Amino acid sequence: MPSSSTTISVAPRHNSAGLRFWHWSNAALVLAQLLTILFMFVIVKVKTLAPEFSKVLAEKGVNMAPEDLRGLTRIVSHRIWDWHIWIGITLSVLLAFRVVVSFLQRGRQRTGAKIAALKGRAAQGDIVAQQGVWVRYAYRGFYVVLAVMVVTGLILVFEDNFRSIEHTAKEVHEFTMYLVIAFVAAHIAGVFRAEVTHDPGIVSDMINGGASDEE
Ligand code: HEM
Ligand code: HEM
Repeated sequence: MPSSSTTISVAPRHNSAGLRFWHWSNAALVLAQLLTILFMFVIVKVKTLAPEFSKVLAEKGVNMAPEDLRGLTRIVSHRIWDWHIWIGITLSVLLAFRVVVSFLQRGRQRTGAKIAALKGRAAQGDIVAQQGVWVRYAYRGFYVVLAVMVVTGLILVFEDNFRSIEHTAKEVHEFTMYLVIAFVAAHIAGVFRAEVTHDPGIVSDMINGGASDEE
């Protein structure tokens, strides 16, 4: 009777624990940042509070101009910005952690190796692999976008030390938000599409790490 043998795989999983931790923490916090903006400018619409408060007070016979009420509405905006700032600082620490993770990736976990493997398959006429190469480049682009968000965000946090570039930083920060939204929308749609077409299990690979890639 042939002896049964157990193969113990020592090859690293497709997605390292560090990458997975970074991915889900970063995803949650980026979505939370977008929520703070949604509350500030769409749901609470802090800028319109003072005139509306002024109207309601006038109905009660209290006459206070919107300008005199700004001190009150600023309490609301400060509360929302405090969340934005602390989430932003956590995101900055996470991005630094992602840099550390990139040095700890082993073998096929490395982005360079993932791109090389996809390019190899694309060279043999695999169209899906060719798309995968572009998706990987889009991830690299997103890391640049995130870095811009973090650097301009930190300039705004410490604006007292950066008065001369504060205005530019704010404009870049605001514009870059649209790139973040575009990436998130395309990414989530792309992952869903991959899950139901050529890459079922892609999401659980980002949760449990996935099987080891063959060397
Ligand atoms: C909540 C829904 C999300 C799901 C289901 C999801 C799922 C995934 C999956 C399955 C991958 C691996 C894809 C692959 O191997 O090609 C991935 C990678 C990635 N995701 Fe997400 N994601 C989500 C949200 C986000 C958000 C909100 C962000 C950023 C704002 C983000 C940024 C990234 C990045 C940068 C990568 C590439 C990681 C790397 O290999 O360096 N994801 N995501
Ligand atoms: C990645 C997702 C992020 C998004 C979508 C986002 C979006 C925005 C937007 C739209 C504004 C308003 C700009 C304006 O008033 O013109 C803003 C302001 C600001 N952001 Fe972010 N941001 C993000 C990340 C960060 C990070 C990582 C930090 C800090 C490290 C940060 C810190 C700030 C600060 C300090 C302000 C100014 C708040 C104020 O006016 O008091 N943000 N952000």
